[in-house]
Amino acid sequence: MRSVIDILDLSVEEIDQLIAVADDIIANPAKYREACKYKTLATLFFEPSTRTRLSFEAAMLSLGGNVLGFSDAASSSAKKGESVADTVSVVSGYADIIAMRHPKEGAPLVASMKSLIPIINAGDGGHFHPSQTLTDLLTIRHEKGRFEGLTVGLCGDLKFGRTVHSLIEAMSRYTGVKFVLISPDELKLPDFVRKTFIEDKGLACQQVTSLEAVMPQLDILYMTRVQGERFFNEEDYLRLRDTYILTPEKLKLAKDDMIIMHPLPRVNEIDTRVDDDPRACYFRQAHYGKFIRMALILKLLEVEV
Ligand code: NCD
Repeated sequence: MRSVIDILDLSVEEIDQLIAVADDIIANPAKYREACKYKTLATLFFEPSTRTRLSFEAAMLSLGGNVLGFSDAASSSAKKGESVADTVSVVSGYADIIAMRHPKEGAPLVASMKSLIPIINAGDGGHFHPSQTLTDLLTIRHEKGRFEGLTVGLCGDLKFGRTVHSLIEAMSRYTGVKFVLISPDELKLPDFVRKTFIEDKGLACQQVTSLEAVMPQLDILYMTRVQGERFFNEEDYLRLRDTYILTPEKLKLAKDDMIIMHPLPRVNEIDTRVDDDPRACYFRQAHYGKFIRMALILKLLEVEV
């Protein structure tokens, strides 16, 4: 029984296989329509979500399986003081696989130690978000055709942005990748990510505050929302939230084949006029999420199609 708590729980070869399965699902959806018949996915979401929860549910439904769960901690027994470990021990008896999102870093890991069924970390606090990274990798493979040798700009809240941390972990395994970290001083990438996945691996990295200054060199611009819910005070959030707003004017500096990604939800950091730019791929990115999650569910349930 295997869980995916961190993107590094999957090898590079396994990620390639997941991408190959996702591509086959995109090409031949009918083949997979009953692959998970009589299997159940539980979505335990202790924190708000639109795409991650709905794409996991859509994934399981498209595999012919069932879904149950809750989308609000306040409607679960967490509200009465039940521990995550107890909740998971119980849900293990009602479902075959769990996707869990929790505001506390490490909660899905603790849950996986108690669980009898696979757990997928669907986001733990400001820590990691591996299934978003699989979505991002499928997007990059489709839009850029490769991972090697890409210059990846990550812009916005690099401190609390869990999708950024997992994406850096994943991309640090491919040769010739260069990271450009674009954030205000207060929202810099945490040391544990920078040191372990960039410095110790000897990867090229540039840390800047100006997006415009680095725009011309980027192959990928990964925009993120300032994570207001993780701030200690409202004043800092209000001061920092609009530091970067991507506009068509700023994009004139970018390569013609640069891609613009965003895990969504977008708040203000990408002007809606950018949506019509062919380089904007964040809505396509959200759609890829369902297919790679289908592939991940099949793998963890050990279903062969
Ligand atoms: C992200 C998350 O929850 O970390 N959303 C998502 O899953 N697509 C990004 C965010 O909330 O800013």
